[in-house]
Amino acid sequence: MGQVVTIDGPAGAGKSTVARKLAERLGWHFLDTGAMYRAVTLAAIRAGIDLGDEPSRARLVRAVSVELTPDSVRLDGVDVSAAIRSIEVTRATGTLADSPSVRALLREWQRAFARDRNVVTEGRDQGTVVFPDAFRKFFLTASDEQRALRRLEDYRTRGQTVAGDLNAVLREIQDRDARDTARAIAPMRPADDAIVIDSTGLGVEEVVEVLLEAIQKAGAAVPTEAPT
Ligand code: C5P
Repeated sequence: MGQVVTIDGPAGAGKSTVARKLAERLGWHFLDTGAMYRAVTLAAIRAGIDLGDEPSRARLVRAVSVELTPDSVRLDGVDVSAAIRSIEVTRATGTLADSPSVRALLREWQRAFARDRNVVTEGRDQGTVVFPDAFRKFFLTASDEQRALRRLEDYRTRGQTVAGDLNAVLREIQDRDARDTARAIAPMRPADDAIVIDSTGLGVEEVVEVLLEAIQKAGAAVPTEAPT
């Protein structure tokens, strides 16, 4: 197993952007575990299965292949990077993420990804369940309002039409957080040994610097300059 840094936290806290930048700075690989849950959800929607039926979703995840490359998410070899960000997939992902068999298989995919390389991984259960022995763990939060603003900005950048206003986005992320926190298996929570960082009012680079400092203190070699 390579070295692993975990970043967990609620929707819109900036985990992906921060994790990707941190991985770049360290020269490590980036693992977006939410993209895995989204990809299997897309596969389930396309297959027309009952998303809440455990035997059907267990069969489905065993039959699909999800591959994360540095700049794309592939479902059975096809780039689905844009399709997995749709509102329909975002809403349905919580149902697949509640499934014990889906979580068990994705946990294995995530551990396999980190088997022989150094990884910065982000999600909800990375520090608590998937990589309990991670080298350094973080839990990234931000105020509800800031998270909703970031999510709205993400939607706009992707050219997605958002039903409703900032309040609608706020409700959507609050609903998702409530479900992710209340989940019977692998609920979202900071690991006991995680450093909790509130990124409200901080820019991406500032958060990355805070993380790098903590990683350095824990003993990892941190390059002084971003690799070109
Ligand atoms: O991070 P992202 O918003 O892409 O995650 C989508 C959903 O996937 C989350 O709301 C959560 O339900 C699920 N998820 C999870 N465990 C992870 C990552 C994501 O349950 N490690």
